[in-house]
Amino acid sequence: MRVLLITSSARGHAIAEALHRSPQKPEIISVCVNKNPGIRSLATEMHVQDIMDFDKIIEVAKKTTPDFAVIGPDDPIGAGLADILEEMGLPTMAPKKSLAQVETSKGFTRRLLKKHGIGASPKFQVFEKSDNSQRALTIEQEMYTYIDQELQGDYVVKYDALRGGKGVKVSGEHLQSIDQGVQYAIECLEECGRVVIEEKLIGVEFSLLSFVSGKTVIGMPAVQDHKRAYEDDTGPNTGGMGTYTDANLSLPFLSASDLARASEINRLTAEALMKECGEPYKGILYGGFIAVKDGVKVIEYNARFGDPEALNILPLLSTDFVSVCQSIISGDLTQDMVRFEKKATVCKYIVPKSYPERKDEKGMEVIFPTEIPSNARIFFGDISEDEHGALHLGGSRTAGIVGVGKTLAEAEKIAQELCSQVQGPVRFRSDIGTHELIQKRLDVMKHLRN
Ligand code: AMP
Ligand code: GLY
Repeated sequence: MRVLLITSSARGHAIAEALHRSPQKPEIISVCVNKNPGIRSLATEMHVQDIMDFDKIIEVAKKTTPDFAVIGPDDPIGAGLADILEEMGLPTMAPKKSLAQVETSKGFTRRLLKKHGIGASPKFQVFEKSDNSQRALTIEQEMYTYIDQELQGDYVVKYDALRGGKGVKVSGEHLQSIDQGVQYAIECLEECGRVVIEEKLIGVEFSLLSFVSGKTVIGMPAVQDHKRAYEDDTGPNTGGMGTYTDANLSLPFLSASDLARASEINRLTAEALMKECGEPYKGILYGGFIAVKDGVKVIEYNARFGDPEALNILPLLSTDFVSVCQSIISGDLTQDMVRFEKKATVCKYIVPKSYPERKDEKGMEVIFPTEIPSNARIFFGDISEDEHGALHLGGSRTAGIVGVGKTLAEAEKIAQELCSQVQGPVRFRSDIGTHELIQKRLDVMKHLRN
């Protein structure tokens, strides 16, 4: 059994670890953007290269003849790497380009949900660039009126293509007037031809990822991410500073019907994608949800594992991940193939001190504890190993440290203690997974729903 893993980050290390645990003992052939020490320790072969250089990936695939491929990040999936690998006869656990539009185009997804009667979107409108030069003015006016009258001034503007999570601007946070919103929307329109303007939702966000093989959609534990850089949800947005899951595979602020509704939305969306694109979705469907006053709404979809979400979820998977991947590809996936340990997890990301604003610490040494208890994991991200085995920081997130426990409190303590032992110019968010921060989410929901 040989698996080609195309990846870039701590999510890739978590995927590699889940593959490695399989009783099928696969050889892992890794194509990775950096010399990731975690993936290196698990892979039989490691190719450090640009993961958008598809010709080189094809070369590696031809030479190593893997049984199947797994693609981790959004960029190669969005650019159609799964189509290329499948065309050359390599079965791939990632959706094809047309299906990955669920992540690459916010407008596509909003229209898909509407067309298929999935009532999970906020009010929205997609604006498209017209060839007519007279039209630009009219579009500005239309946008202004839409925000002012339809959305009563509470709005979000979304760049309609992949932009590393930086294309979304929210009124009251990044945009201080309707004029500013219209100006940003016009910029988006100029750059990518399409922009989504939608209602600003108030609530608590969470992620629900599913394994999808056509019409078979199997949910994973619900996760909450923390996007802001600093304690108490302050500072700029990041790729995600940490995440937690609860032992009941839900989250403390979700009702049973919230979770059931989010699962149903993922199932309906997978079905809608199959109808729309004429072929089955095979891979991970990541629903970004928000629990609001009267239920659950979709913020966005991603066509891959989340990072850090995968770091919480994959260590809990107690069944064979290689079989899960193979069955997603073959269309034979069944519910009994996916089981999760009923434990809580807390992941805290170690990041360079100046992340995400600057990369001042790039190249500096970082030292991780060597004694890792069995109820913890360290997943390495943007970090490189030199010829002497020393570890050096990249500019982005360094490593996700995960605690696994019977309760959230236990999992948090394990993660916190290990994070505190890391030496170097790094920081992490102590508040993630704590009772105080979780209570704040509960308070928001209580306030909204009472
Ligand atoms: P996205 O890239 O669509 O996940 O958006 C990034 C972030 O923007 C989300 O995690 C939310 O915090 C925020 N956001 C996106 N859409 C909305 C919305 N309709 N209402 C409120 N916040 C939103
Ligand atoms: N956790 C956010 C993401 O993976 O996009």
